[in-house]
Amino acid sequence: MDQPRHAVTARSIAARGIGPAPQQGTALLPPMDMASTYLRDPDNGYSAGSVYGRADNASVRHAERQVALMEQAHAGLLFSSGMAAATAVFTAMAPTHIVAPTIMFWGLRDWLHDIARHGHSITYVDMSNLPAVAGAIRPGETGLVWIETPSNPLWTITDIEAVAGIAHRAGAILCADSTAATPVLTRPLTLGADIVMHSATKYLNGHSDVVAGVLAAARPSALWTRIGALRAQIGSAASPFDAWLLARGLRTLHLRMREHCRTGQFLAEALDGHPAIAEVLYPGLPRHPGHAVARRQMEGGFGGMLSLRLRGGEEAAIAVAAGVELWQRATSFGGVESLIEHRASIEGAGSPCPDDLLRLSAGLEDPDDLLRDLHRALASLG
Ligand SMILES: Cc1ncc(COP(=O)(O)O)c(C=O)c1O
Repeated sequence: MDQPRHAVTARSIAARGIGPAPQQGTALLPPMDMASTYLRDPDNGYSAGSVYGRADNASVRHAERQVALMEQAHAGLLFSSGMAAATAVFTAMAPTHIVAPTIMFWGLRDWLHDIARHGHSITYVDMSNLPAVAGAIRPGETGLVWIETPSNPLWTITDIEAVAGIAHRAGAILCADSTAATPVLTRPLTLGADIVMHSATKYLNGHSDVVAGVLAAARPSALWTRIGALRAQIGSAASPFDAWLLARGLRTLHLRMREHCRTGQFLAEALDGHPAIAEVLYPGLPRHPGHAVARRQMEGGFGGMLSLRLRGGEEAAIAVAAGVELWQRATSFGGVESLIEHRASIEGAGSPCPDDLLRLSAGLEDPDDLLRDLHRALASLG
């Protein structure tokens, strides 16, 4: 299906969908491509472009192109998980020095502990402290700066444009995990990032029924080619069914994000100052240290993720998670249903996550019901 000739926003691309490839006919929506292999032409070529399912799949190409268009990217690559997408960047790079945030998604931080086996060295830094970021980078030696904004689970904000400037001046590229922001709120490539990464398991799919990840690049590069080749070689692309579900989920992303943001903001404001809560962590609160930067680089809201630090410590946090009825106790985030999690319990030993912290993913239920449920659970702390 042809794209509109005039520029349209990511919202319109998402809602309209991008239709099937020309060889898939006139259906408004593309059929799922379940083939593991494709016919070779009589002249021994592959004129349609697809050879074998590990490397080529129309459903995968469709979903990754949709995300790439929304991110204003040159191209996208869809992976079998957010971790597969993130680790593809690190493993495809020649040995280099990496600068990464002290606070970031724990699963990736855990994997990075052993990054020396790939020949890389790493320095962790508070990405909200720009002089510290500049100090951590070694001009000529640092090849990659990795950021995550808002970052899990404290929802700290990184100034993408400023860090991109620092990275580029030192000859490094910037890769941004934008899972919590989504292209609805922030488009890191337009702010100077070279690659944007998402766990599509979260908001992009949005229905808690797909595990997938995506990378989108600002421009072609040797690294981008290597990442694509690596994905084809080891078979880390998403399955056709997951890709198809993701493309469907994306079509309502803008509407869902609007509600996630509204409810996130509503809950953060309503719970701020509650006697049982020491701190509400949410970038939409004016006293959040990253609020001014978030206002600049997040468009239309501050997301649906917030964390609560309980005055009663770990015991109180676990009791509140046990006391809710509408919120559901589960890890992950970004789905239509609201989730609550005692984050330190899942991150385990060595996690920098405070043990008094509850991570909340505001879903699409009635915000008043969600607040009442939390108030009841908080009241039962006595
Ligand atoms: C910010 C962030 N990045 C990456 C990941 C990894 O994604 P996946 O679970 O799809 O592998 C997660 C998962 O929770 C995440 O929260």
